[in-house]
Amino acid sequence: MHSMTASNLRSAYGGESMAHMRYVIWGDKARRDGLANVARLFMAIAAAEQIHASNHFRELRAEAQDFLVASMAVFGLLESSDNLQGGIDGETYEVDEMYPAYLEEARFQGEKGAQLSFNYALSAEKTHAALFRKAKKAVDAGKDPELGPLQVCQVCGYTVEGEAPDRCPICNVGKERFQAFK
Ligand code: FE2
Ligand code: FE2
Ligand code: FE2
Repeated sequence: MHSMTASNLRSAYGGESMAHMRYVIWGDKARRDGLANVARLFMAIAAAEQIHASNHFRELRAEAQDFLVASMAVFGLLESSDNLQGGIDGETYEVDEMYPAYLEEARFQGEKGAQLSFNYALSAEKTHAALFRKAKKAVDAGKDPELGPLQVCQVCGYTVEGEAPDRCPICNVGKERFQAFK
């Protein structure tokens, strides 16, 4: 694999791994504060970030070496409104800057597997940002958001409220590949 794409995959793996943990921590905080649906949203999206990290890691399967990995990451454990804003900021950075740049480089280098992994994450992060925005609006109005079941595609991390679709709009797998967070 080209070294630049490998480096981008490692950085994205680091960023997704930290996003996973950050959402678990923020979800735990929301649960303790009585915001059950905010907690459930953070846990569902944490699961999606684990899928992104796993996809990137698998693309690096042949790159067996130790590396020091630097990744952009949001920090802070504040109130749930701030934590949701942190989620919005992190997802937006990935959608607007990080994944489009990584995707272009992977295309330039002809790295098909990395393109797919970056593309899944880029598309899924858009759904995460939208759900965080909806939740923050409710929390800022002093309420736990009304949220139906949350469905997470186990292949690409696409996350949607309500019923699982017959086919994932990002990766096209069937509804049996969705995990529900109720
Ligand atoms: Fe992600
Ligand atoms: Fe995300
Ligand atoms: Fe999917």
